[in-house]
Amino acid sequence: MSKVTVVGAGNVGATCANVLAHKDIVNEVVLIDIKGDLARGKALDSWQQAPIDYYSTRLMGTEDYKDTAGSDIVVITAGIPRKPGMSRDDLISTNAKIVTSVTNSIMEHSENPIIIVVSNPLDVMTYAAHKASGLPSSRVFGMAGILDTARYRAFLASALNVSPKDIQAVLMGGHGDTMVPLPRYTTVAGIPVKEMIDDETLDAIVERTKSGGGELVKLMGTSAWYAPGAAAAQMVEAIVKNENRIYPCCALLNGEYGLKDIFLGVPVKLGKGGIEELLELKLTADEMELLTTSAGHVRSVMDVFDNMQ
Ligand code: NAI
Ligand code: 2OP
Repeated sequence: MSKVTVVGAGNVGATCANVLAHKDIVNEVVLIDIKGDLARGKALDSWQQAPIDYYSTRLMGTEDYKDTAGSDIVVITAGIPRKPGMSRDDLISTNAKIVTSVTNSIMEHSENPIIIVVSNPLDVMTYAAHKASGLPSSRVFGMAGILDTARYRAFLASALNVSPKDIQAVLMGGHGDTMVPLPRYTTVAGIPVKEMIDDETLDAIVERTKSGGGELVKLMGTSAWYAPGAAAAQMVEAIVKNENRIYPCCALLNGEYGLKDIFLGVPVKLGKGGIEELLELKLTADEMELLTTSAGHVRSVMDVFDNMQ
């Protein structure tokens, strides 16, 4: 009996709503955008796909936040995406205002939603939504790690000529070039990846993963949407079904990994209350150094946000 609102009916938001409808696990998906007709059109198109693909989830498009009332989960994708040559951090001045105002509007109509942030720069936009919402940090977190690990897993699947289904991986840190893929925690059907691949190929895959978003921006002139939309929908699924899935998500750290008051990608357990548990891995000194560097970068962008206030 869940109601999910997806804010932003652009590439990522519309994909997320459509993937979610296909999962047939929620009653209603509201797609909201300042371009109301775009939201209405994409919701109607997705609803007309229901008789073909057999789902019952109702979709509606709107620009009116009254229609979002009583949302259990809200996915925020509103904002501008990158163009070639831009970093995710270049989006902060525009997207910080959008994410803050969207969060305020959501909170006017829904009492205690779980908010999943997708807008970039991801870690800092999650911080912005957390601040604006006043919700506990277990209920406000960001999507990046599922996407970044998916890219890493897809590259590994191609290199090893195995199904991506069999590749499990953890990746930590900020959603940017300093992200930290963790080969030590990567397995192929339970087999440590280093037993399956040489160091040079693995290193190249790690580097390609770090710039995986940029690779797509170069190809398409805007950022990716199929995998990002599906990743956000997978997080909604874990919550709606109370699955307790372990995913890398952007979460507020409170002393874990020696870091405090910072939003950063870490493995968490996702269930009906949102983040049910934050997992603290025993990182090596080298891994910890990479994580600390990534945290330093995120912190500097959080400072930019704070100075804008
Ligand atoms: P898009 O341009 O296709 O869609 C964004 C939509 O947001 C537009 O339809 C626009 O009208 C809407 N919008 C703008 N201001 C709004 C407001 N105040 N209220 C409601 N809607 C508003 O962009 P796309 O490709 O969907 O990307 C969306 C965001 O997600 C970007 O910031 C992008 O960088 C980010 N992103 C993050 C990823 C991640 O891993 N966290 C992955 C992919 C994209
Ligand atoms: C991505 O990684 C742009 O953050 C977006 O595709």
